[in-house]
Amino acid sequence: MEVPGYRIRDELARDTHYVVCRGETHDAVPVLLKLPLSPSPHPAAIASLRREHELMTALDLDGVPRPRAFEPQGALVLEDIGATSLRAVLRPGPAALDDFLWIAPELARTLGELHRRRLIHKNVSPESVLVEPKSRRVQVFDFSLASRLPQETQAASPPQLLPGRLGYMSPEQTGRMNRVVDYRTDLYSLGALLYEMLTGRPPYHSDDPLELVHAHMAKAAPAPAELGSGVPEVLSEIVMKLLSKTPEGRYQSAWGLRADLERCAREWTAKGAIARFPPGEQDVPEAFTIPQHLYGREAEIRVLLEAFERACTGRAALLLVAGYSGIGKTSLVNEVHKPIVRLKGRFVSGKFDQLERSTPYAALLQALRGLVRQVLAESEPRIAALRERLALALGPNASVVAAVIPELELLLGPQPPAPSCPRPKPRTASTTCSRASFPSSHGRSIHSWCSSTTCSGRTPRRRSFSRACSPTQRCATSS
Ligand SMILES: Nc1ncnc2c1ncn2[C@@H]1O[C@H](COP(=O)(O)OP(=O)(O)O)[C@@H](O)[C@H]1O
Ligand SMILES: [Mg+2]
Repeated sequence: MEVPGYRIRDELARDTHYVVCRGETHDAVPVLLKLPLSPSPHPAAIASLRREHELMTALDLDGVPRPRAFEPQGALVLEDIGATSLRAVLRPGPAALDDFLWIAPELARTLGELHRRRLIHKNVSPESVLVEPKSRRVQVFDFSLASRLPQETQAASPPQLLPGRLGYMSPEQTGRMNRVVDYRTDLYSLGALLYEMLTGRPPYHSDDPLELVHAHMAKAAPAPAELGSGVPEVLSEIVMKLLSKTPEGRYQSAWGLRADLERCAREWTAKGAIARFPPGEQDVPEAFTIPQHLYGREAEIRVLLEAFERACTGRAALLLVAGYSGIGKTSLVNEVHKPIVRLKGRFVSGKFDQLERSTPYAALLQALRGLVRQVLAESEPRIAALRERLALALGPNASVVAAVIPELELLLGPQPPAPSCPRPKPRTASTTCSRASFPSSHGRSIHSWCSSTTCSGRTPRRRSFSRACSPTQRCATSS
């Protein structure tokens, strides 16, 4: 890897797209360089580095490395204070309590400053933190996912494709909690990082990305104090508060967290022990947030989840949800993500769009294209197994189906034209594909959600939410 004008030395951190190296300029000034891993980077990777440069320049914080330059061929050049990656510090095992007690409050302070500037980092992990023990400086970098929006909705993409590091990702950032992502996602990720500093391992670990997602959403990690590593009880409680599944259960500001951590550090220095106190005594919300809860939908959620459970026993099920736009159909249906993750099912959706009214089965095809794309993100052995089953099920009709689901050729390879169908008719194709590809693979259930409320040209007849009529449909199959 080469950048004209710089000498690159050792590597500090890397993720799937970028590497961070230590280096120096031609006049021997030490710098950090963040570079795309690919030798011929996609323009989007370079644009993302440029955005990161702009964000970091605007920050001007001690807890964030100051940018020195942006090289247009794709290099973000940052100041180097001689720090090492926190990942390297943690490699031999948990951090010493003394180190924890100066690193943790500094991290909380930097997050507090970022949140005060209305910036959410969204990727806090040991790979994105630098520590310099001599001057006791801590820096947060890796702003490639940082957001200026107060709230964002994360789609429930396949876990392999979720932006960020899965081991430190908040439940809402997995896109399956039916909740928006706000600044409190950083407090969860910081909780996972502090957990690892105390215990030597992240709260959840699995080689299966979907299992990791499920753990963040629903499993309870053992408290650090329970792991028998001499962790003071109150630090353990602070970390577990940060790891709360719902943002409301966490600290509501990094300042409240910092106050508690500094109190622990003071007591530890003075007495060599930390007395218990209730965490969050000085915690004041950073911003006004309305609790995200579906009010008055308990009965509908129950019906939905019961239908889901029934469908999982092997019988296909169809559930219709009707109502005017904005009444909460999508919000209700999104509740099904939680059990789907537990059972390693898949969720696909399609919408009868106003501009697609001339395409037969447009929403169904959209859902099936999404399904193939999800499959393509899986591991090669799983893809190979499904490829075999699909090829068998589709037989000579594969090219007819591929004409309306082009992604299928990525899965099955180029298909010879079907003998009796010179010009594929979308209607025939979608009938074939709905028969052939809905059977689930690997014992997974598939849930499809077709929405047509606003665009189907049919007026909902009833206002009532629970009494179903036809404008919106949801169907589920399982095998
Ligand atoms: N029961 C509810 N409690 C709280 N907020 C709700 C409820 N139902 C809907 N909302 C909110 O109303 C907005 C519109 O809901 P949405 O599900 O998109 O409606 P639809 O899909 O029917 O058009 C969303 O912001 C959602 O959070
Ligand atoms: Mg909707």
